Amino acid sequence: MRKKVIAANWKMYKTPHQAKEFVDSFLPHAWGHTRDEIVICPPFVCIPATAEAAQGSGIAIGGQDLYWEQEGAYTSAISAHMLMAAGCTHVIIGHSERRQYFSETDDTVNRKLKRALSAGLKPIVCVGEVIQEREAGLTDEVLRRQCGIAFRDISGGEAIPIIMAYEPVWAIGTGKTATPEMAGEAHAVIRAEAAKAFGEGVATQIRILYGGSVKPDNAKALMSQPEIDGALVGGASLDPKSFAAIVKY
Ligand code: 13P
Repeated sequence: MRKKVIAANWKMYKTPHQAKEFVDSFLPHAWGHTRDEIVICPPFVCIPATAEAAQGSGIAIGGQDLYWEQEGAYTSAISAHMLMAAGCTHVIIGHSERRQYFSETDDTVNRKLKRALSAGLKPIVCVGEVIQEREAGLTDEVLRRQCGIAFRDISGGEAIPIIMAYEPVWAIGTGKTATPEMAGEAHAVIRAEAAKAFGEGVATQIRILYGGSVKPDNAKALMSQPEIDGALVGGASLDPKSFAAIVKY
């Protein structure tokens, strides 16, 4: 039985002060919650404040991106080591907004994934199709390509910490969710790619989250799908009560 992961992606929202306020008000809901793993991914500058406020609670902290080099003259870039020193154990890689607005490619996702794994960060790797791809019947092909390239040159032994997130781009921030059946089919494609790259034994251990308009009122239906191993939550994770309601689906 794979333990579910409920992860908050705050995107470009909240100041350090607001991050601390969130954690202070969310914590009473999260104490003693051991059924699922809870991860909060704040903007870089909020990581120390969030990590400090969450200390001892069991809530894990993640970055929203990283750069693959160890250090160097790479203005604005953040390394795996910096994330860990600031309190992160997880990192989101390849979010569709990075792909859409910041030229992230399947190849850069692969480089970042390899770096996260070698540094000891647990990667949350996002894949998903845009609406035109779904309408053209290309969803499986897109997922296979995104996963195939992301998983290149990674061994089965290294791959165990990988968490995948299926985020159909048309469901992000739109209020539309994939039906549990659509998510189930996509998750099966992702798991098959993981099996091809890492072997069946590793692939069955990898958690595959669903992301895209997860809300308190649809969390239960989505989380009861056997193929859905958790959620990556954007908008509804910004409010402590609504994120708590999702965690307690
Ligand atoms: P929403 O929950 O706002 O649709 O965002 C999903 C997402 O992109 C999480 O990474």
